[in-house]
Amino acid sequence: MPATIRTIGISTGGGDCPGLNAVIRGVVKAALLDHGWRVIGIEDGFDGLIWPEKARELDHASVRGILDRGCTILGTTNRGDPFKYVFEANGQKIVKDFSGQCLENAKKLGLDALVVIGGDGTMKIGQQFFERGLLVVGVPKTIDNDLSATEVTFGFETAVQTATEAIDRIQTTAESHDRVMIVEVMGRDAGWIALWAGLAGNADIVLIPEIPFTIENICDKIWEREHLGRKFTVIVVAEGVKLPATDADGKPMPPAKPGQVGNTIAYSIARHTAKDVRVTVLGHIQRGGTPTAFDRLLGLRFGVAATDLIAQGKFGHMVCLRDGKVTHCPITEAIGVYRLVDAGSDIVRTARAVGVSFGD
Ligand code: F6P
Repeated sequence: MPATIRTIGISTGGGDCPGLNAVIRGVVKAALLDHGWRVIGIEDGFDGLIWPEKARELDHASVRGILDRGCTILGTTNRGDPFKYVFEANGQKIVKDFSGQCLENAKKLGLDALVVIGGDGTMKIGQQFFERGLLVVGVPKTIDNDLSATEVTFGFETAVQTATEAIDRIQTTAESHDRVMIVEVMGRDAGWIALWAGLAGNADIVLIPEIPFTIENICDKIWEREHLGRKFTVIVVAEGVKLPATDADGKPMPPAKPGQVGNTIAYSIARHTAKDVRVTVLGHIQRGGTPTAFDRLLGLRFGVAATDLIAQGKFGHMVCLRDGKVTHCPITEAIGVYRLVDAGSDIVRTARAVGVSFGD
């Protein structure tokens, strides 16, 4: 560790997420006001260390008015691992290790330490740089809320709020037309967004990767509602669900990727029930827009805590939230360890108790 920290860098990597700008503001403000350090903004994730021309000093003016803005003022990318950078030259795919260049550029920029804000992929790269001598601290982010090291990630609440508002709107048009409406939400391999937004948005059926379902059970629930005079059904499906092998008529279900599972399920339901089925894939709407107050606060707290980690020399560590308190853990403990929805948890029990079907 350098005797004194004078300059720190900050970069955002991976998919963007509401609350990133709050972290940037937290880091910059605490660095300038509390620690008396300079801050250099590295653009577009680790790409900005390969091509540092766009790196710029961040001062008070740089972080003014960004707390309530989605996006990251530093830009990001979810490609570009500098240890295995893939690009095309003369029509050929080339894989090159730029990590040495990044370390040199970090030195040239005068970085005594680097705050990396990102998901699992970004933390893995941050850890590799730490092992090569760069003094890295991490800040976890994802709307998916699937990192086991922290009990919640900023961006999740905003994504849930956005999805809930969308489901509210779907409810009314579903009712007008007596339709089955499917809303596909993000979340990668975890069902957190689907479960929380589905329950808050009063969905009738919630399909998540953690609970296997059948198309037959979904259709039964739709008929059950019809018999009760409820001629519409709202289904929330997580993009990462594992489709059953066969549909309600025993026909094989085609494989489907995130962004397509809602449509695949819709096709099977329409064929078996003859109901009018419509699909809305919410997609990146869940990643954009104004962060909720909670996500702004968590972002700020994580940002300030990251500067404290640097001041305490706790490199190779990542901030996280445990028992409602901001703390930290080694990055190695955090990467590749996911937290999925526990099918026996109180929120699943609550959903079942109020009549939500999981199609199981
Ligand atoms: O991990 C966040 C996330 O938004 C997932 O929910 C989603 O599957 C993925 O990123 C989409 O990433 P991309 O930016 O590549 O479309």
